[in-house]
Amino acid sequence: MNVLKKIFDCLLIMKNYLYGFFMKVKTAFYSPSKISRSFWSSRNSKNWDLSSRYPELQDAQTKALIGFFNKNFKDKKIKMLDLGCSDGSSSIFIVKDYLRYGQGLDISSEFIKTANKEAKNNNINVDFSTWDACEEELKITNSFDVVMALGLFTCITEDKVFENIINAISTQVKKGTYLLIKDTLSDTHDTQKVLKNHLYAAKYRFIDQYVKDICDKGFKKLDLKSLYRFPSEPYASYFLIFEKL
Ligand SMILES: C[S@@+](CC[C@H](N)C(=O)[O-])C[C@H]1O[C@@H](n2cnc3c(N)ncnc32)[C@H](O)[C@@H]1O
Repeated sequence: MNVLKKIFDCLLIMKNYLYGFFMKVKTAFYSPSKISRSFWSSRNSKNWDLSSRYPELQDAQTKALIGFFNKNFKDKKIKMLDLGCSDGSSSIFIVKDYLRYGQGLDISSEFIKTANKEAKNNNINVDFSTWDACEEELKITNSFDVVMALGLFTCITEDKVFENIINAISTQVKKGTYLLIKDTLSDTHDTQKVLKNHLYAAKYRFIDQYVKDICDKGFKKLDLKSLYRFPSEPYASYFLIFEKL
């Protein structure tokens, strides 16, 4: 019995060692973009939920969204595109009463399945489909009043892809379209960073440069507010409103 237990303990130590080794190799050889896409492709409504991870941030995001729609679209029905929509619960469904039509895009097929089911059950005129921002060009096929990307660009670690998406939005939407963004941004140029471990990767961009990059692509900044500041860190999650010029 004792021998069997020793063999079992040895196998367990070997398994943990090999797992640790594999994760180190994965972190070293996989690009941040690949790690981020692999993380998000395997998310679903059970293993990722903003409200349980950061309740204060979720609350502030909901308030900011409702505040924006109340101010600009009271008693109106509009068309909206949601990029990186997850299962829709923390973005598109929050403002469902304002929607004439909505479209949501996300890399995770599980999120999309849940979102479509929810839309059908509640008779909401929204289409959700999968899209990988790093692999597929963004084609905007409707005349949207609002495009939002809440938390998407933080997951896009490659600046070129971030630029291409902003460019695609800018060249395909009409003048006056609102662009709503939420992202975690860095206070200074020196503290901007790409996070990477074997499971997760993200980029916290420098706020001033980030706003400038978006404005340079043909948008005007209307508002910027901090939703949640990470304790003792030079980063905060911001809600930004732009308008297409
Ligand atoms: C931080 S979550 C935000 C979700 C939701 N918009 C919200 O505000 O709670 C980022 C979302 O972007 C999606 N995403 C990440 N990388 C993506 C990619 N390359 N292409 C499309 N969607 C992506 C994720 O699946 C996830 O739903």
